[in-house]
Amino acid sequence: MTADLFDAIADVQPSREAMADGAVLLRGFALRFETDLIPALREIVAQAPFRHMSTPGGHQMSVAMTNCGNAGWVTDRTGYRYDGVDPESGQPWPKMPAVFRELAAEAATEGGFENFSPDACLINRYEPGARMSLHQDKDEQDFAAPIVSVSLGIPATFLFGGLKRSDKPARFRLVHGDVVVWGGPSRLFFHGVAPLADGEHAAMGRQRINLTFRKAR
Ligand code: SIN
Ligand code: FE2
Repeated sequence: MTADLFDAIADVQPSREAMADGAVLLRGFALRFETDLIPALREIVAQAPFRHMSTPGGHQMSVAMTNCGNAGWVTDRTGYRYDGVDPESGQPWPKMPAVFRELAAEAATEGGFENFSPDACLINRYEPGARMSLHQDKDEQDFAAPIVSVSLGIPATFLFGGLKRSDKPARFRLVHGDVVVWGGPSRLFFHGVAPLADGEHAAMGRQRINLTFRKAR
């Protein structure tokens, strides 16, 4: 086997990297779903466009968001919540496509969490410079289910800390197709995304899209 061919195979073979107890990085796991995933994503965004939401403190987020599934995560001046309805349109969020559910469930299983059945998918769009400060995902009713997070588009630095905000986060470079699963002992770990460096991705353009699957209700 030539070195080139070997590298090419290494590029497409999913691999796993332990991040913490209960947390794993599945490199390239989403790639085999890509041909169905990207068109399904475009349909959702056509129905429920990205928007910059406001925090309860009145700051506009640099990340633009939308959702699909029975429950969508929203923030406004009144606080954070899951809502079945898109507040911009007054309509239910777009249904979660089968390819989304399959990817999330298979990644969760790979991460050690069987029977993951998400009812919420938050879709985050980062343009160069956008960031997400350290936070916990804790608006869900049941912390037994993991979080499954899919990266598409240009690379980002994912920050993964611990149970305390002051725990120094480890840094992971996430590229198109990478999936992070965290649950169990790390379900409530602080995490965030460093300001996105500029770049261009062949399929996704000048942005990073993150799909975050949760069991909200
Ligand atoms: C999030 O925590 O909602 C987003 C994480 C990411 O963009 O990787
Ligand atoms: Fe989060």
